[in-house]
Amino acid sequence: MTTPKVGAAVSRRRFLISGGAALALPHLITGCATARKSPSQQITLGIVGCGGQGTGNTKSFLDQPDCRVVAACDVDHNHLRDLVGVVNDRYKNTDCRSYHDFRELMGQSDIDAVMLAVPDHWHGLIAVEAARHKKDIYGEKPLARTVAEQQAIVQAVRRHNCIWQTGSWQRSENNFHKAAEIVRNGLIGKITRVEVGLPEGLGNVNDNAQFMMPTAPPPELDYNTWIGPSELMLYVRARTHGNWRWNYNTGGGQLMDWVGHHCDIAHWGLGFDNAGPLEIEGHGEFPPRDAVWNTCTKYRIELKYPDDIAMTMAGGDKDIRAGTKWIGTDGWVWVDRGHFEASNEEWADMKQLPESERKIKLIISTNHQRNFLDSVKSRQPTITPAETAHHSAIPGHLGLISMLVGRKIKWDAENELILNDPEASELLTRPFRPPWSLT
Ligand SMILES: NC(=O)c1ccc[n+]([C@@H]2O[C@H](COP(=O)([O-])OP(=O)(O)OC[C@H]3O[C@@H](n4cnc5c(N)ncnc54)[C@H](O)[C@@H]3O)[C@@H](O)[C@H]2O)c1
Repeated sequence: MTTPKVGAAVSRRRFLISGGAALALPHLITGCATARKSPSQQITLGIVGCGGQGTGNTKSFLDQPDCRVVAACDVDHNHLRDLVGVVNDRYKNTDCRSYHDFRELMGQSDIDAVMLAVPDHWHGLIAVEAARHKKDIYGEKPLARTVAEQQAIVQAVRRHNCIWQTGSWQRSENNFHKAAEIVRNGLIGKITRVEVGLPEGLGNVNDNAQFMMPTAPPPELDYNTWIGPSELMLYVRARTHGNWRWNYNTGGGQLMDWVGHHCDIAHWGLGFDNAGPLEIEGHGEFPPRDAVWNTCTKYRIELKYPDDIAMTMAGGDKDIRAGTKWIGTDGWVWVDRGHFEASNEEWADMKQLPESERKIKLIISTNHQRNFLDSVKSRQPTITPAETAHHSAIPGHLGLISMLVGRKIKWDAENELILNDPEASELLTRPFRPPWSLT
């Protein structure tokens, strides 16, 4: 076990005595921007969010010889201690620094890049702070909890010239790449319809009574900071680690958990990484609003895209198969994790399309973390830049908004506005619990 260094201990004490989470801390730490390093140098990485995905991503980065994990941050002391232990075990030293406040980590001038794997309600604030410090960023999907927060990330990443990779790692898998290239190269003709099948329900959850009841937060967790910009609800174990997805205060249910995977792939094949739907109509089944888990359990969203393309994105409707299916005038392709099927059975045996068919070549990546590090060095875009992740998640956000207002909405994709519907437009953003703010 590793003892957190002084900076982390001081930081945690400041959190606790303030009683108001980050109130005692300056909102921004500025003036610590790192200079861009030459491509030959090792990339130093800081980790923010040491839970399930953060641990997995960190292990992948530890496997890359030109990357050095130098610091980690979490508001759960146990998660932080465990991940710092993993890093130090790998390097056989005790050098990995521990932080409780992500802003302190961002202020470290010896950190080139950060990996962010925090719950969705924290994506916008932490990513924008990272960009302000000119860190290159590996951030998780969906890009953020609202369209407005996604826009803030895209703008900050652009303004500060950061490299961004989204954790939509399916793009780095061969079967998804092949499927998208077939569609992009017109080999199934003109696309008329796309089906995106996402999970239904509430994941694999533990619903025993103790787990579902309000209790005092455990001593290792700074719950006030964990809940951060969202409404300060009573602590319920079933609404925190891993399960924050199933309450709209912190997550977006199965729809928003998966839109950054299968809709991301659908857009890749269509060439719509910077495009969006024109009309969106969603219907869904919701638990009571005050239930511990209140996210949509079954949903069907019909979307109209440019070029007369219709998309159905659904969870729980048996006619829509899990994964992504494109249907064209000359055939179809379906892809999911570990699976590939197509109207032309010959494609199933190919690892990649023959060169003669690859008039349009999509970026090839065989390792998502590697692709990020290569881009940090080359300063070329990753396989899933921030703009792409923004557009991949927009259909999910708009589908949810349509379900919440109970009607079809029209989207001006170029100006990113909902047309003629003030009530729906309000849901493009969300208030921040003070003192947190993006301004
Ligand atoms: N790409 C994928 O396949 C994939 C898979 C799972 C999760 N994810 C994404 O990864 C992210 C994390 O999900 P998870 O399942 O690991 O959640 P998790 O609850 O297991 O872990 C989140 C961690 O973030 C910490 N945290 C919360 N607020 C923080 C703050 N302000 N500062 C520092 N740490 C903070 C928590 O204490 C926790 O340790 C989510 O965006 C999720 O959508 C992606």
